[in-house]
Formats: sequence, structure tokens, C-alpha cells
Amino acid sequence: MKVVHTIEELRDQLRGQLRVAFVPTMGNLHPAHLALMKMARQHGDPVVASIFVNPLQFGPDEDFSEYPRTLEDDIRKLEQERDVYVLFAPNEKEMYPEPQNFQIQPPGGLGGILEGAVRPGFFTGVSTVVMKLFSCVQPRVAVFGKKDYQQLMVIRNMCRQFQLPVDILAHETVRDADGLALSSRNRYLSAHERAEATQLYAALSAAREQVLDGKLDTDTLSAWGHQLLSDRGWQVDYFSLRRQRDLLAPEPHEIEQGEPLVILAAARLGDTRLIDNLEI
Ligand code: PAF
Repeated sequence: MKVVHTIEELRDQLRGQLRVAFVPTMGNLHPAHLALMKMARQHGDPVVASIFVNPLQFGPDEDFSEYPRTLEDDIRKLEQERDVYVLFAPNEKEMYPEPQNFQIQPPGGLGGILEGAVRPGFFTGVSTVVMKLFSCVQPRVAVFGKKDYQQLMVIRNMCRQFQLPVDILAHETVRDADGLALSSRNRYLSAHERAEATQLYAALSAAREQVLDGKLDTDTLSAWGHQLLSDRGWQVDYFSLRRQRDLLAPEPHEIEQGEPLVILAAARLGDTRLIDNLEI
């Protein structure tokens, strides 16, 4: 695997390549990232991964400075798996040599709800860096995980509206045996919190059963999820049933008629904020 730190080196490595499959990450790689690389390998050649902790997508009170940076370890994992041909690991100056005044602002309807409502500016930061990474890598396909469900949708919509020649592929959420979705932020959890963290997936699974049984409308479901997790000591940002196609709340007749749905949740356990979702 070639490790490059500048856009110029990256372009030199990829000159003439028309089938690049790309996996952007912020590093601290775990098996869910490695699964994205495997999927990329099935859909293109060569596979390019990036590791960049993007300051634009962190709010002032968020964990940008504490976010785990483990480049040496990440390189070792990628070399072991042998799926990636080039790793692009730029520093901040390489990605943002001057203030990034041109930014991609997702529409409020999608970018301003759920994660976008709780983390203002988050999807602008994500869209801007992904657009910039796409411009550096020029991939034919790019792979994202479904754990960041809304991010995946924002990026898909961005590519469609800008007519970028990149197919966005979605990988299923990778979970530990007890259901907890893999995330770099899980490492912030204490042993006690790690045991409790499985309750987020448990709550989503129970909610899904209730929707499938036709028992709950959207408001009752949301209140039920909030109550369940709050009673266990979580601080809930949202627990919400939405349509898969646009993440808006479904009408009751749409639920009855089998509209594809997704329940999305975000909640804080101690200092750690976890997100997860389940499709129906
Ligand atoms: O999902 C992530 O790790 C990040 O949001 C991404 C897509 C790499 C952009 O910084």
C-alpha cells in the first residue's frame, strides 16, 4: 500500500485510473471501516482510502481535539487486509491551505433535521470535505456505512444534484455480537457504559417490532423511545420514525401501506454521543 500525504502525490499515483473505488474515513479504523474497504474492492480497482479528521464538521463544543488519531495503527491494519492500494492521509494545511470560504450547504429539509438540527454546520462540513476529497481522488464509486444514515443520504443527494460521476454504495451497519454498532467513539465508553450502550440497539429493535405490529404512531413511538432511554440515564437527542426516501415523518396511511421506513436515534451516554438506526 502506498501512503501519500499530498494531493500532488495522490494524483501522480492515480493518473489514468478510471475505476477508482474510494472509502473516505476519519481514521481510528475498526472492522466496520475494513468492511467498507472490502466492499470497495468488489466494485472498483484500485481502492483508495483517506484518513482525515475534518475540522469543518466539528462544532465548537465537540470532540475535534480528542478525536482518536492512530495513523500508524491504521496503516498496519490496512496493510494486513491488503484491500487498499493508496492511502491518502493529508494534514489540515494540505486540505485547507486557506480558509475554506466556498462550502457546500445541504438544503435545510434534509441537512437541517435530526443530526443537522442537533449539530448545526455538521452536514455543511461533511459535504464540503467529501466534495473536496472526490475532486482529489476522482473516484468512480465511493462506499459509506449505513450507520451514518443521514450522511449517506446527504452525500447521495449532493452527487445527484451536482451530477458527479460517482456511484455511492451503502454498506450495512457492522455490529458487535451484542448489537452495538461499531464506531470510533465507542472507545470513549467506560466498561459500565459499554454494557449499557447495547440498549440503544435494543430500543430500536423493540421499536421496529412495534411498528411492524402496527401498534405505534410516529409521535407515540418517539415519546416511547425517549422515555425508555431517559429512564436508563441516557440524554436523548432524537428517536424518530422516518421515511427512508427523504427522512421526513411518514403519514399514518403510508405506514399502513408499507412505505419503507427507518427509525433513527441519537443519544448521549455520559460524555459519549452514539447514533444508530434500523430500517423497516
Ligand atoms: O463518516 C465519516 O467518517 C466522515 O464524516 C467522512 C465521510 C469521512 C467525512 O469527513
